[in-house]
Amino acid sequence: MNRNPLTVYIYELAWILPSIAIPVGMLVAITLSAFALGIHLPGAAGRLDPARLDSTPPFDRPGVRQVGPGRYEAVVIGQIWRFTPNEIRIPAGSEVTFIATSRDVVHGFKIQDSPVNLMLIPGQVARLTARFDRPGEYLLVCHEYCGTGHHVMFGRVIVEPTGR
Ligand code: CUA
Repeated sequence: MNRNPLTVYIYELAWILPSIAIPVGMLVAITLSAFALGIHLPGAAGRLDPARLDSTPPFDRPGVRQVGPGRYEAVVIGQIWRFTPNEIRIPAGSEVTFIATSRDVVHGFKIQDSPVNLMLIPGQVARLTARFDRPGEYLLVCHEYCGTGHHVMFGRVIVEPTGR
């Protein structure tokens, strides 16, 4: 069969250009999400014995505490089928470091409209810092299927207006 060399050239370009453009697009998306949107993969911040959470700091005292001006630390335990604490209250403009783990099975830890999206794995500590500027109520949900009560496992982050 006789093909016009120009047609072949255009076919080749039609394959080659997207095969360059797609990886470049992906790299741009990764770079933007990491640096502009502040989305990071949470690392394993530590290991512990999930059976001894009640005597392992900081999980012996779950809750929210202020660690500096505008800076908070939220220590959260996920277990079937609740978060402890299930309400995190902070003033707008705060930077919150979530330190979380699971007491039993794998749970999810996702805060709506925020970059917080963690996996709570028994024996591992997940840690992530996020800033909350906009006042309102943010839903915290478990987004890893964890059994029959999975759908009722949720909490809320309440960002209070500072009056400024
Ligand atoms: Cu915990 Cu789903």
